[in-house]
Amino acid sequence: MKRNSVYVLAALFLITLATSAFAQVQVGIVLPSKDEERWIQDQARFQDALKTAGISAEVLFSQGDSAKEKANVETLITKGIKVLVLCPVDSAAAAASADAAAKAKVKVVAYDRLITGTKNVDFYVTFDSFSVGAAWGKYLVSQLTGKNQNLYLYAGNNSDNNAFIFFEGAWSVLQPKIADGSFRIVNSDKAVAVQKKATLSRAEMGAIIGQVTTLWNPGEAKNKAEAHLTSAKAADKGVCYILGPNDQTARAIADVFAVDKDVKKYYITGQDAEKVSIQYIIDGKQSMTVLKDVRVLVADAIQVAITFAKGQKPAQTKTYPNGKIDVPAKPSDVTSVTKQNVKAAIVDSGYYPAKDFTGL
Ligand code: BGC
Repeated sequence: MKRNSVYVLAALFLITLATSAFAQVQVGIVLPSKDEERWIQDQARFQDALKTAGISAEVLFSQGDSAKEKANVETLITKGIKVLVLCPVDSAAAAASADAAAKAKVKVVAYDRLITGTKNVDFYVTFDSFSVGAAWGKYLVSQLTGKNQNLYLYAGNNSDNNAFIFFEGAWSVLQPKIADGSFRIVNSDKAVAVQKKATLSRAEMGAIIGQVTTLWNPGEAKNKAEAHLTSAKAADKGVCYILGPNDQTARAIADVFAVDKDVKKYYITGQDAEKVSIQYIIDGKQSMTVLKDVRVLVADAIQVAITFAKGQKPAQTKTYPNGKIDVPAKPSDVTSVTKQNVKAAIVDSGYYPAKDFTGL
């Protein structure tokens, strides 16, 4: 079946559900920041899907501030929501919001990022984030030629549980190629210290992520990349393989590597299929991204909310430990996008229109 038909069917399914007893579902959605294309896109896709489904909902943004997030959640609880869909700024800090919601008998759905350290998370709507990291690793390995190649690691924010899962996925693919001497880690002595270990503890990953974090912020990513290239010797440059943690930060890092005269070629990963990064891929400035189809995540979240409103349990295929409980989840697949498949994966699939890009 064509992908577009799947979305039409999904929309019809939601309409059918919503026009029955569940039209009264009140859903509160809290997203981390308006400053990233990723979350603006989630908002837009939510608004489309909620309208189609006839569900009344409100979307609020936390602007990277856990206190604002908590206030948003309290506002929504006061308005009488039945289901909270929360993408936390900080996975641990959001436990207080989840607890407040549970106290008010509101079902809590962690959206994209897990809420940790509380039993009050009813479901986790997510992509398969391990596969996102593994896709980065596979891409970089697929471009490998020779031994002793320069590997630069960058990561998300330590306060986001996803940063660990992405890194874990990437490490699972990269580590054997570090251990056999194909890659040489240039910019993290914390990673070098554990490079013989196939799997890392949370504390070991935390130390590496802490060292090479972008804080999910392009300014921080740029500063780190500049500092790394300033201290790198010419031999640490040449051809560079770069683990870019998401599109926004990957572009910031790529721009720094692109202007260094000792960098002859670089490969860099990303995720989110942001429009600007799709253009970067077409132009050869970013090597790949991972498409996480937000339409799927949004449809999943709405379906979970409706299921909870019916007093039923959503279907699950997996659980994620959050430090207190194993949270039920049904992670969605992701797609690697390179210059080779960008037209098929992004335009022909109907994700973005061709007119948004030049040179396709
Ligand atoms: C999301 C990514 C996003 C990043 C920064 C992660 O938790 O999964 O899609 O790029 O946060 O906002």
